[in-house]
Amino acid sequence: MLAEQTRDEVFEADVRAQLDAVEAALLRAAEAQTPMVTEAAQHIIAAGGKRFRPLLVALGARLVPGASEQDVIKAAVVVELTHVASLYHDDVMDEARIRRGSVSANSRWGNTVAILVGDLLFARASDIVSELGSEFVRIQARTFSRLVQGQIAETVGPQPGQDPLDHYLQVVADKTAALIATSALFGAKIAGADPLLQQRMIEFGEQIGMVFQLSDDIIDITSEVTGKTPGTDLREGIPTLPTLLARRSTDPADARLLQLLDSDLHDDAALAEALGLLRRHPALVQATAEVERRAAIARGLLAELPAGPARTALEELCEQIVTRSS
Ligand code: IPE
Ligand code: IPE
Ligand code: MG
Ligand code: MG
Repeated sequence: MLAEQTRDEVFEADVRAQLDAVEAALLRAAEAQTPMVTEAAQHIIAAGGKRFRPLLVALGARLVPGASEQDVIKAAVVVELTHVASLYHDDVMDEARIRRGSVSANSRWGNTVAILVGDLLFARASDIVSELGSEFVRIQARTFSRLVQGQIAETVGPQPGQDPLDHYLQVVADKTAALIATSALFGAKIAGADPLLQQRMIEFGEQIGMVFQLSDDIIDITSEVTGKTPGTDLREGIPTLPTLLARRSTDPADARLLQLLDSDLHDDAALAEALGLLRRHPALVQATAEVERRAAIARGLLAELPAGPARTALEELCEQIVTRSS
């Protein structure tokens, strides 16, 4: 028992030390030619964040022995830089004022600087991924292309005749799950995992990535402590699982909510009313049940991975994502 505990502690300390090295490398990667650009490029990195994608790289790399420490750090930096860059752009698109508990870059420096700093960070991610080889470059490029197309699809909305829920699930898969799946894959690849294990990590990452975004969309409605402004999706008219499910209601008691969902929610009082109604709506319970269903599928996919502390940590992540509030 004691030996078991010690092994877990060593594993945790090892992962933590690696993630600390990722922090330093992230800040270095955001250094630019002038102090002002460096400050803007490091702003969202320094503001914190969960570092979920670097953690997936670090855990994926520990499923089998043999990963190069430096390559794991590089891959973790690549996925987090790609993520952070997409946040700079996303906050412009969503007119978000707060990110990671700090003022958003677009609020502080304006849209133009925020967009260009996002581009700078994408360029830095490309630079670093080239050190890992052409296969990693190709995967990162394809992931980035899915992420961007997911963001565009969300902006444009469903095609004529397309089911809004199908459209939404495709958007979530592309804008969020793609990069999370790549994070899990990068770790396994660096460790030299066999192709079957790599495929399992992609499938796990896609599924847990869906869970991650679906729960984020629920948190946008339920939570007050996210480091973001609650109700941003609602205000911007971005469909999410709870609102899509609520819209299916034919209950006359929902008439007011449906009217609000179709109106301009930039008005604070209207937004607060819509949030209040949604927080008490059965659609929220249904959406939460769907998140739990998908988290159980993700967890099930882990059963075929090699047993050990990395798999255990991934299993725990499945639980945490469902119960998280930020
Ligand atoms: C925010 O991602 C955007 C989504 C995909 C939901 P995270 O929830 O990982 O944000 P940080 O990195 O912790 O700030
Ligand atoms: C997250 O978009 C996905 C990307 C940034 C690519 P959202 O708009 O749903 O995420 P938050 O709620 O602003 O973090
Ligand atoms: Mg947003
Ligand atoms: Mg968005």
